[in-house]
Formats: sequence, C-alpha cells, structure tokens
Amino acid sequence: MRPLPRLEILTEELLGNRLGAGVYRRWVRDLGLAGTERVLEVGCGAGACARHLAEALPCGSLTCLDVDARWLAVARRRLASHDNVGFVCADIAQWQQPGAFDAVVVHFVLHDIPAENRRAALEGIIRSLAPGGRLLLREPTGHGMSGAELDALLGGAGFAPVDARQLERVPLMGDTVSGRWALA
Ligand SMILES: C[S@@+](CC[C@H](N)C(=O)[O-])C[C@H]1O[C@@H](n2cnc3c(N)ncnc32)[C@H](O)[C@@H]1O
Repeated sequence: MRPLPRLEILTEELLGNRLGAGVYRRWVRDLGLAGTERVLEVGCGAGACARHLAEALPCGSLTCLDVDARWLAVARRRLASHDNVGFVCADIAQWQQPGAFDAVVVHFVLHDIPAENRRAALEGIIRSLAPGGRLLLREPTGHGMSGAELDALLGGAGFAPVDARQLERVPLMGDTVSGRWALA
C-alpha cells in the first residue's frame, strides 16, 4: 500500500480536523449519548469525528475501525491522549465482534463503499450491535448515494428511524441526512 500523500494528510487536518471541527462537534453533541455507551465508529478515517466521540464517552468506550491502516494510524496519533479508545484495522463486512456495541456510528462512509458491497457492510454493523442498539449515521445525499437509496438500504436491512431524520447542508459535503436508527 502506497504511503498517504502528505498533501492529503494536511488537507484532512486543516479542513476536517480544524476548520470542520464545529461540524463534527455539533453532530456528536446532538446524538444524545449518555456517556456510558460502548460505541463502534465504522470508517473512522483520520479520527475527525472520533475525537469528539471520545470526549462524549467519559465513562464509556470507543472502538475506531477502518479498513485503511494509513488513516487509522493518523487517528491513533490524533487520539493518543484518550484512554477510552481502541483501534481496529478491518473491513466491517468481515469483522466479527457480535453484539458488542450499544451504538455504531457511521459518518460519511456508506456513500464511499461500492453499491454492491454496502449490504455486506450493513450486515457487519448489524452483527456488532447489542440487542436494542442504535445506528447513528450521517451521509451526504448528493454524491455516491441518494437519500432514497440510503432509505432503501437501511429499510431493506431491517432498520427503522428512531426519530425524525435531519436534513442539513454541510460545507464541502453538500446536502446530508442524519439520524438514529434501530432494528425494527
Ligand atoms: C470519507 S471517509 C470518512 C472518515 C470519517 N468518518 C469522517 O467523517 O471524517 C470514509 C472512511 O471509511 C473507510 N471505509 C470504507 N469502507 C470501509 C469498510 N468496508 N470497512 C471499514 N472502513 C471502511 C475508508 O477507509 C475511509 O477512511
């Protein structure tokens, strides 16, 4: 695997982690976490969302999972001061940790996965959830996957929205949908 170009790392640091921090922080704040949950973040990338999740879980734990070891290494460095965070390099479609999490966070990930592989990724997420667990998700709807495709994917896998979905325009990402889902 080729090393990540330094420009890509720098761009993510500036736009995602620094200028975009408020976008992530507000989203995590509004998830309604109690702070005690066992949370899995699927597709954590460089940890721009994970750093806010870690702070929102003072008595819980966060497992950061990504299929790309290079971005996971950036996340590991970024979250080094948090002792409630663990890291896993794996494809969620293959990963086996059945029923281990109260919530699975998916932030800007599914639209990046090829359409034919999304159902398998969702099966991995379902496998990871404890009974009554929640899927906490935000995805763009203007590229990669439409809102209707996302609804069909989640509904087809047995998820129902817990409350009203939020529609929001996010800088650089465009229109997004977010919300909380549970298995019906
Ligand atoms: C657009 S990035 C989003 C990163 C982060 N969640 C954020 O919002 O800043 C999508 C991430 O999902 C990861 N990813 C894609 N498919 C995956 C899979 N099947 N299993 C685990 N991670 C995956 C990619 O490696 C990438 O780091």
